[in-house]
Amino acid sequence: ERADALPRDLEGVRVAVSAGGTREPLDPVRYLGNRSSGRQGFALARVAAQRGARVTLVAAHTADLGTPAGVDLVRVGTAEQLREAMHAAAAEADVVVMAAAVADFRPVAPAEHKIKKSDRDPDPVALTRNPDILAELVAARRPGQVVVGFAAETGDAEAGVLEHGRAKLKRKGCDWLVVNAVGDGRAFEVEDNAGWLLSAGGSETPIPHGSKAHLASALWDAVVRTSNF
Ligand code: CTP
Ligand code: CA
Repeated sequence: ERADALPRDLEGVRVAVSAGGTREPLDPVRYLGNRSSGRQGFALARVAAQRGARVTLVAAHTADLGTPAGVDLVRVGTAEQLREAMHAAAAEADVVVMAAAVADFRPVAPAEHKIKKSDRDPDPVALTRNPDILAELVAARRPGQVVVGFAAETGDAEAGVLEHGRAKLKRKGCDWLVVNAVGDGRAFEVEDNAGWLLSAGGSETPIPHGSKAHLASALWDAVVRTSNF
């Protein structure tokens, strides 16, 4: 979308967005990671800035994406680093968006030196849970602050994509949850998304198939409509 065609309805609003996939070290050269490209988080940051927001973008590993104009970019690696950076950014933000793919687990004790192979099979890698950053940001939420989460769901034998999304929104306690249907080549490493925008108040808005910038616009429209900035 052309920036000059966008409303300036986020003028002066302070926004913190996380993007990309965290990497959890196994040793100095290896990590546990995920396929997040960071494109959705970057689109959210770019569109917010185009609409007048003051944006801090906390980016874990991403594809080779240009820094959106006028956005304050903070690079991180691990979930722990992303947590620190997001708590700092959220302390100054009116809207906090967790679009990053945070590793749920990390190796308990990364090796200090590169792990060498030998003539026997390696020991299993012991993992521990990472903190739930979104839940922490919700717990630390100031009055009037808006906290947004993302969920990529496939649906399974127990429940469909939307049902998983509803359960996750309740569990996390955020104000908005963007639910993306994934699998079959959708969402990850592609340009387009489709899903639902769920609010804590119970509204459920389908987001039609479109670009990540389009999804970003739909979220910012909803946030502007329901907040008094
Ligand atoms: N999230 C987070 N910290 C984590 C894991 C996830 O802040 N340790 C955030 C993500 O950035 C996203 C939301 O929580 O905004 C939902 O992430 P998701 O992986 O879908 O939820 P989980 O609670 O990890 O549940 P699961 O992976 O088991 O579906
Ligand atoms: Ca997860």
